Amino acid sequence: MRGRLIALGVALAVLVPLGYSWATSLVPGNYSAMDMGYADFGGGPAAEHMHHGGTSVTSLTGPAGTPAVAVKLVARKQKFSLASGESVDGFTLNGTSPGPLIRARLGDLVQVTLVNESVSSGVTLHWHGVDVPNAEDGVAGVTQDAVPVGGQHVYRFRAAQAGTYWYHSHQVSSKEVRDGLFGPLVIGAPGAAREIVAAIHTYDGKRTINGRTGSQSIALPAGTRVRVRVINTDNSLIRTGLVGTPYKVLAVDGRDLVGPTPTTAAFPLAAGARVDLEALVPESGALRLDAGSASLVLGANPTGTLSADTVDLLTYGTPSPVDLASARPTRTFDYRIGRHIGFLDGKPGLWWTINGHKYPDVPMFMVSSGDIVRMKISNTSGQSHPMHLHGHHALVLTRNGTPSTGTPWWTDTLEVADNETYEIAFLADNPGIWMDHCHNLPHAAEGLMTHLAYTNITTPYRIGGPTSNKPE
Ligand code: C2O
Ligand code: CU
Repeated sequence: MRGRLIALGVALAVLVPLGYSWATSLVPGNYSAMDMGYADFGGGPAAEHMHHGGTSVTSLTGPAGTPAVAVKLVARKQKFSLASGESVDGFTLNGTSPGPLIRARLGDLVQVTLVNESVSSGVTLHWHGVDVPNAEDGVAGVTQDAVPVGGQHVYRFRAAQAGTYWYHSHQVSSKEVRDGLFGPLVIGAPGAAREIVAAIHTYDGKRTINGRTGSQSIALPAGTRVRVRVINTDNSLIRTGLVGTPYKVLAVDGRDLVGPTPTTAAFPLAAGARVDLEALVPESGALRLDAGSASLVLGANPTGTLSADTVDLLTYGTPSPVDLASARPTRTFDYRIGRHIGFLDGKPGLWWTINGHKYPDVPMFMVSSGDIVRMKISNTSGQSHPMHLHGHHALVLTRNGTPSTGTPWWTDTLEVADNETYEIAFLADNPGIWMDHCHNLPHAAEGLMTHLAYTNITTPYRIGGPTSNKPE
């Protein structure tokens, strides 16, 4: 009897806390991003996070007026053929994946009408890297409801910063982006160089550039100056670069670099990030863009392969003073990525943590307009994470304590490898509720996501709920 009681006691001692951690891990059927986790004010004023009053994200729309670029994108579930012929069962925009290139000039008002013809899980469009007004950000359950089959949604924003961007669904994004709901977006008038957009994506294990597997070519004569806008739409880092002649890294994440010098090293392109590469097609004509098993020959095919060396933006280019680097921060945050055994929404596993907390009990980074924010992103989770902050560009200050001594390095999607720590700074100049998540999208779906929220902003949308908003 006594032995049984002890056994029962031991069993309860194990099961009760286990049951408790299971029960407390359950994610409510629907909830507001404003109720997620706990507010972290970063040492700034702890203004109450408003739920009533304040400004609704619905009012933070793009400008009125006649759009200079007006595009309609129809989302479909369908079997389609890659440009190279292989068939994919996924999703398209206007019948293709990638969707059409949207090209705007600096200052243009862009208007995109998204129509959902047959994507049963609903769709949205997020303008990755474009710091749009919050209502145009396309995050289901935070800035809008997912567009159901038969519905449509109009996005409007000013093309305010020249650069290379992309768009993708932010509803069930870990599946919808993988299966085709994305496309390239370029802002800026074409310059003197020949411009080539190279959107890299892997469909069913098949690596493609602009929807073509294998090696493809564009015949460019020797002496042509070419600018290749490379977009990583996959979930992990891609080593890319030009082979055949030294090239310059002109821009990263839609921001020009200062003093780019010729390099032959490979560029480590984070998931979701973009890089603009420039070269002159050499006398021999031999030039090629490499991206794993896919490549783009830009003249004749060089015999060489991509270098084992890697461009390091911490030292690349020429320094140039940026006020933000020396400005005194008004809020300071830690974004510590770890991993912990436990339950997530009742499922046992090894789950990502932010500052020791599992989703949805994660910190909400609270700011006010005008704040100078510093954030230290560290990672001891055993894997790399390409961290993407919506609505803002951040300046990299240090990596593992070493200051950035090259070009000012502005980023919206920063690869933080295991055991790395980055300090970044940004200006809180775009009111809203903004996702700040890992762009290895299955990781985000597994809870590696939180928000940067302005204290006076509210959202009427809910994650989950009748419209099944499921941003990741
Ligand atoms: Cu490219 Cu939150 O996404
Ligand atoms: Cu990740």
